[in-house]
Formats: sequence, structure tokens, C-alpha cells
Amino acid sequence: MMIAGERTVLRRVTPDDLPLLAGWFADTEFVRWWGGVAKSNDEVALQYLGREDGDEVVQAFIVLHGDVPIGYIQAWNDEPLIGGIDIVLLPAVHGRGYGPDAVGALARYLRDELGWKHITIDPSVRNVRAIRAFEKAGFVPESELLDPRDGPLLVMTFAPDAVR
Ligand SMILES: CC(C)(COP(=O)(O)OP(=O)(O)OC[C@H]1O[C@@H](n2cnc3c(N)ncnc32)[C@H](O)[C@@H]1OP(=O)(O)O)[C@@H](O)C(=O)NCCC(=O)NCCS
Repeated sequence: MMIAGERTVLRRVTPDDLPLLAGWFADTEFVRWWGGVAKSNDEVALQYLGREDGDEVVQAFIVLHGDVPIGYIQAWNDEPLIGGIDIVLLPAVHGRGYGPDAVGALARYLRDELGWKHITIDPSVRNVRAIRAFEKAGFVPESELLDPRDGPLLVMTFAPDAVR
């Protein structure tokens, strides 16, 4: 199953992606805005291949530009039809508009194909680039939340009518 944006395509992560993802998440620059700590192979296998654990479901995707993998994006939910998106792209491709394209494509898929009613994304208040990118994808700031690990987060909600 593929989800097409205008400039990116999302495909489901498979177990064969473990070496690729483990390489990315072991890089401190890659995880700078994703907890800041490099992840072990085992953590990646547990967390980022997609999972279903009781009510908690994580749908994991590789972001492609053409045929080239450029990042990881996931949709998570712990109650039906309400959940969020997280994304991290390779540093080398930041600033080219791929992030908003991929996030917008996944948000529209969740809303239009899966019927999700409420979709959030929650960058650090310090992550100015991400906040701008998610606004471009159609998310609007809603509230702030204090995360014990990551500090203050800006909770942004997908507002379908505001899509660029
Ligand atoms: C966040 C991320 C997905 C955004 O994707 P992207 O493809 O780099 O986004 P864009 O190319 O649209 O650039 C973001 C926007 O922020 C702006 N921007 C970049 N750095 C900025 C800064 N320091 N201050 C203000 N604006 C900034 C850019 O100018 C651009 O806006 P514009 O198109 O209006 O000029 C990507 O940068 C990424 O993966 N970052 C690391 C992981 C991360 O932060 N994930 C989010 C965790 S919630």
C-alpha cells in the first residue's frame, strides 16, 4: 500500500527495513529532534517497524522521494479514530518541502481513507522549522503540553479546510 503526496510517497515499513532504520536512528544528528538519543537496533526493531499492542497502534512508513528513502513517518493512536503523526527526515533533505508534503499526505489518508476524526502533531515549541512545516501541511496550533522528557510541546491539530 502506498500513499502519494505531490513530492513524496509513503510505503509501509517491513521487517526488511530494519538495517536501514537502525542505521538512521543510530545517528545522533538524525534523532536530534526525536528524543536526542541514538537508538539501539533492538529499540528500533521494537518501536519503528509498526506495532499493535492492545489499544495502541503504530502505523509505520518510509518516506520516499522517487525511489530513494529519505525518512520515517508514523501514525499512532491509542483510541479509535483519534491519534497523531510523527516524522523525521534525513538532515540532508531538510528545507526542501518534503516534510509538509509527507505529513499532509498521511493526514489526508487518515482522515479520508480511515475516517480519523482528530489528528495532532506535537513538535517542541523550540522546533521552529517543524512548526512552520506543519502549518504548511494544514495543522494549526491548539495548546501547549509539558512532556517530562522533551519539555514544552506545541500541540497542533489537522484542520482540513486550511490545507494549502
Ligand atoms: C520537521 C521536518 C519534518 C520539516 O520538513 P522539511 O521538509 O525540512 O520542511 P520545509 O522544507 O517545509 O521547511 C520548513 C519551513 O521552516 C522554515 N525554517 C527552517 N528553519 C527555520 C528556522 N530556524 N526558523 C524559522 N523558520 C525556519 C523554512 O524556511 C520553511 O518554511 P518556508 O517554506 O515558509 O520558507 C524536517 O525538517 C525534519 O525531519 N526535521 C528533523 C526531525 C523533526 O524535527 N521532526 C519533528 C518532530 S515533531
